[in-house]
Amino acid sequence: MASERPGSQIIGTGAYAPEKVLTNQDLARIVDTSDEWIRERTGITERRVARDDEAASDMAYEAARRALDAAGLTARDLDMIIVGTVTGDLPMPACAAILQRKLGATMIPAFDISAACAGFIYGLSIADKFVRTAACKRVLVVGVELLSRVLDWKDRATCVLFGDGAGAAVLGPAGDGDRGVLSTQLYTDATLVDSLCIRAGGSREPLTNEGLAENRHKVFMVGSDIFKIAVKNLTSASRSALDAAGFTPSDVTWVVPHQANLRIIAQVALRLDIPLERFVLNIERYGNTSSASIPIALDEGVRDGRIKPGDTVLMCALGAGISWGSALVRM
Ligand code: ACO
Repeated sequence: MASERPGSQIIGTGAYAPEKVLTNQDLARIVDTSDEWIRERTGITERRVARDDEAASDMAYEAARRALDAAGLTARDLDMIIVGTVTGDLPMPACAAILQRKLGATMIPAFDISAACAGFIYGLSIADKFVRTAACKRVLVVGVELLSRVLDWKDRATCVLFGDGAGAAVLGPAGDGDRGVLSTQLYTDATLVDSLCIRAGGSREPLTNEGLAENRHKVFMVGSDIFKIAVKNLTSASRSALDAAGFTPSDVTWVVPHQANLRIIAQVALRLDIPLERFVLNIERYGNTSSASIPIALDEGVRDGRIKPGDTVLMCALGAGISWGSALVRM
């Protein structure tokens, strides 16, 4: 998946987070947990929760509109819409199809990627291929997750970790310079498929009253299994993205990692020998927003001026599947 020179470039970013804030103290009133435990083990202080009348496509729409504005485009300029999500509006059809209608885009391909927290990186990689080959000129990539609807609010081991939100990027053809997507790396290893999943509600185990009573339609995770593999795989994927483009960690201006756990990020920083100060972090305020976490952090970094044109940005994410990936981009 290496690239000699960029074929596509990020030309606009946007993000959206619901207004309602749920603090660690709020959670301590719902389950047996504490602000201290959550902050020490994860780095999270608060997260956002969508309104009852808000669906994933509503959040995706807000992020997409901001990304299109930043790119100076309208939805009618798009050639493709890719949405990374595991919490789309409906099991069928794709959230991307609903987003296409809300945006008023033309009859372009619109589809979802199911790669959990790695959904945005998968989408970015696919979009890059379409733009690089000139099959598409402008592709909208969205990461959106409304995890509060699929959390077991009685399970303290998972419900404290996640938040709702959306982030988006528009890709267009790379210019003559060296700005653009330099390399992307994608992986899946299903060995740990049962350590992070939603057990019921699919074709293997359709919903039953018993399943509903046991919350088998909610997120289930053996966190310690995922923690270890996350540190290892995020580090190796990051190295692969750098190697493929002929870069080293010292060439990286900013790392925009998936925000699942501050301790995972700190371990990856140590192993890559990149100081934590060069990581764009917002896990404290949003928790783990799965596929939305990288594009939300990327947009924050761009809008507050930390990430500047020409900066080299490394992104890496891992989630259920286990699916993971990385991307190296010159902004
Ligand atoms: N409050 C208080 N205590 C808790 C809580 C809580 N919210 N949750 C668990 N505990 C307790 C456990 O019961 C356990 O108690 P015990 O020792 O008496 O049995 C103790 O804390 C330690 O539990 P661990 O699970 O071992 O804690 P750990 O240090 O591993 O942290 C965590 C848990 C934060 C989930 C961590 O394992 C993690 O971040 N894992 C990776 C998550 C991730 O990256 N997921 C991938 C993306 S998500 C996606 O794809 C949708």
